[in-house]
Amino acid sequence: MSGAKLSTKESSVLIIDFGGQYTHLISRRIRELGAFTIIVPYNRLNDIEINSFKSMILSGSHMSIENFSKESLEKAIDAIRSFNGTVLGICFGLQILSYYFGGKVNHDCGEYGETKVKILKNDPLFKGWNNEEKVWMSHEDCVSKPPQNSEVLSVSENGYIAALKLDLNGKVIYGVQFHPEVVHTPKGVILFENFLELSSVERNWRPEIYVNSIIEGLRKEVSDDGKALVAVSGGIDSTVSAIIAKKIFGNRLITAFVDHGLLREGEKEEVIEMLNFLELKPLVIDAEERFLNRLEGISDCEERRRIIGEEFAKIFEEIIEKEGIRYFVQGTTYPDVVESGKTQGSAAVIKSHHNVGGLPDWFKEKVKIIEPLKFLYKDEVRKIGTILGVPETLIKRHPFPGPGLAVRVIGKFSREKLEVAKKSSKIVEDVLKKYGLYEKVWQAFATVGEDKWVGVKGDSRSYGYIVTIRIVESTDGMTANYVRMPYEILDEIVKKITGSIKSVTMVTYAITSKPPSTIEPC
Ligand code: XMP
Repeated sequence: MSGAKLSTKESSVLIIDFGGQYTHLISRRIRELGAFTIIVPYNRLNDIEINSFKSMILSGSHMSIENFSKESLEKAIDAIRSFNGTVLGICFGLQILSYYFGGKVNHDCGEYGETKVKILKNDPLFKGWNNEEKVWMSHEDCVSKPPQNSEVLSVSENGYIAALKLDLNGKVIYGVQFHPEVVHTPKGVILFENFLELSSVERNWRPEIYVNSIIEGLRKEVSDDGKALVAVSGGIDSTVSAIIAKKIFGNRLITAFVDHGLLREGEKEEVIEMLNFLELKPLVIDAEERFLNRLEGISDCEERRRIIGEEFAKIFEEIIEKEGIRYFVQGTTYPDVVESGKTQGSAAVIKSHHNVGGLPDWFKEKVKIIEPLKFLYKDEVRKIGTILGVPETLIKRHPFPGPGLAVRVIGKFSREKLEVAKKSSKIVEDVLKKYGLYEKVWQAFATVGEDKWVGVKGDSRSYGYIVTIRIVESTDGMTANYVRMPYEILDEIVKKITGSIKSVTMVTYAITSKPPSTIEPC
């Protein structure tokens, strides 16, 4: 987000982010209901015209009220006071509203997981809810005294306030202690529908329609001359960004495809063919040696991400200098921004995704960064891609990290391990395709570890690599679960891997969900 005021013309729901782990989930749920959302950190409210939104949701937080700077919280509360629309506070959002409007918040009154709540009042927010319902709780603090001019709408089975309604000089403010955004609150979506209705939010937002306003907006932002560069990896985000960029820049656009040697088997040829089909004739840069030489022997994955980001930046710099590039187009999506800790002042960096974390500062001085998808989620990008003519094979292709197979080699990086990860991943994909399962899962791949396992191949004992298969289902990569694969299919994968890759003596299956794990191994 640049320093300029955000244009909120089409936007309806403002989500104020206090660093909660579910903020994007709230946003996704509201968008699924057909309303646009913008997430703004609680300490960046000056950047937006708050009253151009019809309703506001306050997110949860992993911190207590006193862990925040008092001054920034008070500023956020002032903004909420000046807001004309309807407000819903979720979890920490309820606590901060209660605290600042005359109530009290206590520590050590936590509730976790599935909890029953009683609905005490017949309020439109709970239309369609029974007197008793299951909800998902995840809080350590609670509201111990409701604020003035409020009524308690619901209490939990443990006797804590689960929902309340506050009248602030005739303005309606709701707060719920539970998380309506998670699937474990079965009637959560109904509550959101009720809230949107109460806020008179129009529910006609669609990503396909939004793309036209992205193009129009960007056309106004760029000048009539100057070349643009877009680097396409073959993934959906960069491909859709390139198609949009072509509509904006026309023949002034250079589409670059960098082969860093960390791609899936056969991917380079497929990507070039697809880009030609989309009339985005790519400038192909063969940089395999450059990348692999620098990665050899590096154990730390974050360091590898940094090296890859740096090497990409150098290549882009060379093109920028040679071609006199003025605009640089990136396929950053909304979760990329949050997972790199960019929207949350207090959130920890989980993995520094190179497309947002790795570009050096000088980059922004040389070129203007254009990110057409920065307010969109992956499934929305896919919808837009279909409309823009991206071939189905790409739309349905599994997401692939920018640093490619470099993040699927655990421990010391070597060309040998890279080959093991590449060949075994291909086997996993091929077997899934054979059984019609590839398109049903979010990601399926193999990783190779640092430890060795004794194997008996032929008559001799040998130490070989341990390959781990990861097959997960997910809707957006923010959370994920392992797929309960039939044993016969796992057997087939194992036999093919150990049979065709001599150096592998053990194959395992990763069965930890995200969270607490992540999808990629490092
Ligand atoms: P994790 O491993 O964080 O992955 O659960 C979530 C999603 O992001 C992809 N991923 C990356 N994408 N650069 C990327 O562009 C990266 O460094 C990176 N690391 C993970 C991952 O494949 C999954 O879809």
